[in-house]
Amino acid sequence: MLKNKTIVVGITGGIAAYKAVEVVSRLKKLGANVHVIMTEAATKFVQPLTFRSLSHNPVIVDMFGEPQSWDVEHISLAEKADMFLVVPATANLIGKVANGIADDMLSTTIMATTAKVVFSPAMNVNMYQNSIVQKNILSLKEEGYRFIEPDKGYLACGTEGKGRLPAPEEVVTTSVAYLLSPLDLVGKKVLITAGGTQEDLDPVRYLGNRSSGKMGYALARVAKARGAEVTLISAPTQLNKPSGVKVINVRTAAEMYQQVFKYQEEQDIIVMAAAVADYTPEFTAKDKIKKSSKLTLELERTTDILAELGNNKGDQILVGFAAESNDLVVNAQKKLKKKSVDFIVANDISAQDTGFASDFNQVVIISKADHIEVAKATKLQVADRIFSEIVKILD
Ligand code: CTP
Repeated sequence: MLKNKTIVVGITGGIAAYKAVEVVSRLKKLGANVHVIMTEAATKFVQPLTFRSLSHNPVIVDMFGEPQSWDVEHISLAEKADMFLVVPATANLIGKVANGIADDMLSTTIMATTAKVVFSPAMNVNMYQNSIVQKNILSLKEEGYRFIEPDKGYLACGTEGKGRLPAPEEVVTTSVAYLLSPLDLVGKKVLITAGGTQEDLDPVRYLGNRSSGKMGYALARVAKARGAEVTLISAPTQLNKPSGVKVINVRTAAEMYQQVFKYQEEQDIIVMAAAVADYTPEFTAKDKIKKSSKLTLELERTTDILAELGNNKGDQILVGFAAESNDLVVNAQKKLKKKSVDFIVANDISAQDTGFASDFNQVVIISKADHIEVAKATKLQVADRIFSEIVKILD
């Protein structure tokens, strides 16, 4: 996925530096060429040797140390990089970059790069909320620097609050979405649904489906990476909350319907990636159903959210999904018309190693005018391709 991409991981001196070990390992596994620059303080938490072993490249710490090659190191890395990811980013480093201070290898190289720079801050909650730190973050955002929002939770300093470095997997996925995507949805509101709804039979059982929510979450990450204000209405999944996205959790098709229509009006783009149940039990038993020799369930239709959105569609861009096992394009074209949407993203659920629960997908994006085949790629890449088509209509 990241073949031919050079990523410079900057590591500053915070306890969360131990999580950067897994970040570097994951980036390397995705195929990136990874270089690590550490601040002096970072080396107090983790040995450079750890990062050298994982990145397969020399780790740079000292500005005045013996160079590894003839070229000026901070300039050569600054030029080579497709992205800088600073993880963890301390208040000190953020403050330095925001104020044009370049006094060590990391701050100097960041100053000299034209690549995308992503900061993943981690610090004490009061420090994070300090107005000076917030001012620095805001001014860097205005200059085009990107941030991965810290999580709320238990902090190493013994307090609770916002300031935790998100899980390494989350840091990697969010930064890869930043790397892939241009910043072309600034000022746009995007609503995405994801996951498979659960329709209750009784207090312990439900009717569900095999959707993992991965495609919808990838869409939310990409929309956020492109600069949109993103609301994600999610049926139950096992996935991490995408950084900087407003997540509303629902269980049933009826709850999803209610939440979609609560937010629908203000949106510029709505993507229905959720696997919404087409049927729900006519009655939900109040008590647990006892076994007998046979059980017959009476089901009734749920409201088709997408079709109703299509009926109320103004200037909004509306995208639906179609999971098909045969006649993919013909069936998807029918849905395109019936539900009055701009695109149907159709995927063949019988294909091997794509679709449900997989990290990969292979789809056809069908509009009135066109159908575009997207070859097998990661769900993040497919999501990025879908938004490229959406942006074309916006333009
Ligand atoms: N969808 C919806 N509300 C429902 C059911 C589906 O909004 N109650 C949306 C899904 O989110 C998806 C699209 O409709 O974007 C297509 O769903 P799918 O189940 O594939 O198609 P159906 O129209 O239900 O047709 P069929 O099941 O007969 O293939």
